[in-house]
Amino acid sequence: MSDRSAPDRPRPDGGANSTPEGGVGPSKAEFERVIGEGGLVLFPSDTVYGLACDPENPRAIERLYALKRRPPDKAAAVMFFALDAGLRSLPELGPRTERALHRLMPGQVTALLPNPSRRFPLTCRADPGTIGLRVIAVPELAGVAVPVLQSSANLAGGADARRLPDVDPVIRDGVDLAIDGGELPGTPSTIVDLRAYERDGAWSIVRHGAVDEAVVAQALRDDGHFDPATYADTVQAEIPGYEQFQDVVATAAADGWRGGRVLELGTGTGETARRVLGRIAGAELVGIDESAAMLAEAARRLPADRVRLQRARLQDPLPDGPFGTVVSALAVHHLTGGEKAALFTRVRAALSPGGRFVLGDVVVPADPARAVVPLTPGFDSPSPVEDQLGWLRAAGFAAVEVVWQRDDLAVIVADAAR
Ligand SMILES: C[S@@+](CC[C@H](N)C(=O)[O-])C[C@H]1O[C@@H](n2cnc3c(N)ncnc32)[C@H](O)[C@@H]1O
Repeated sequence: MSDRSAPDRPRPDGGANSTPEGGVGPSKAEFERVIGEGGLVLFPSDTVYGLACDPENPRAIERLYALKRRPPDKAAAVMFFALDAGLRSLPELGPRTERALHRLMPGQVTALLPNPSRRFPLTCRADPGTIGLRVIAVPELAGVAVPVLQSSANLAGGADARRLPDVDPVIRDGVDLAIDGGELPGTPSTIVDLRAYERDGAWSIVRHGAVDEAVVAQALRDDGHFDPATYADTVQAEIPGYEQFQDVVATAAADGWRGGRVLELGTGTGETARRVLGRIAGAELVGIDESAAMLAEAARRLPADRVRLQRARLQDPLPDGPFGTVVSALAVHHLTGGEKAALFTRVRAALSPGGRFVLGDVVVPADPARAVVPLTPGFDSPSPVEDQLGWLRAAGFAAVEVVWQRDDLAVIVADAAR
């Protein structure tokens, strides 16, 4: 256990060197050292005073639970002091959930997230498939690089502490380091369940707290990334050569069409679908997209008698085939490399013999200076053309060719054997 008797250690009773006004409060290095040594820290969060310990140290966790008499089966959140560090520690989170977390954190919110790889199992207690994530930004702990298990600094069932002296003396005397952050807001975090958010955007409030439900709802509304009302103008402004790119995609789809329905992956507001339908008279198009708002706009713009729109993710099974042509523009780059490869296999299986897949998308150019399309980390994950050609061949396409490329935009045509 850490050296609680060390002479320079600030005392939990709010001694001179633990007051924020004194300007000689404990450093982040001391916080990290105590946590690393298996000690307990009483600290100011952005809501109430909390208790922290190493989330991977069973003895420290046992001690924290015993100190506040917390039932051992109750989970506690893992807290980070920067969102990037939290996201790096939970690499299985999907891009949609990551985007939601960027909108909510750091902040007075605890997110319940899926935990398929059973990370930080000691914090999850009875439910290792769920992890609680908390990210705060408070001046006293700015730059702390270690995650901690955190729980409020009160005896189980007791009142939350707004000021250090409000913390029960049993807890103040039981920790190895106490940091005085003055008076805090005093309302605990809002707990938001995001475990189903990646799949269908569903979420719920598990505990009402410091952040109003309406504020959470605003941050989590639909997908939030594309605004159907402004999409067309934005994409024209952001993507040099957008018109030519769309023309090449639609022409390649029409040239390869030998009959049958067209499937579009990521229809959005219907920019690509409109061009494809204009070139293939008589074809019906099935369009899928994960965004209900984008599809509503597409439904307004496209001829209802020739189009069937379906809310679905590209990572999920495709609508029942067969299709004569599958086309996609500017959508597949939202998938990881593995997801793209798996999608290409499903596309191949959905095509009729001799059918064509036209893939127009943002790619990673060989020369990094040619990357001109603005990208959002965690949302856009383009892959090099060569990788995608390899995945298409592996999926069983007979002929695969790059028919157009400009900077970091490419159009690939993949034909199935007759
Ligand atoms: C940039 S828009 C492209 C729309 C249209 N093809 C165009 O070129 O204007 C991309 C669309 O892909 C959708 N999308 C992104 N990731 C998706 C996913 N994983 N599953 C289904 N749709 C997705 C978005 O909702 C968005 O409507």
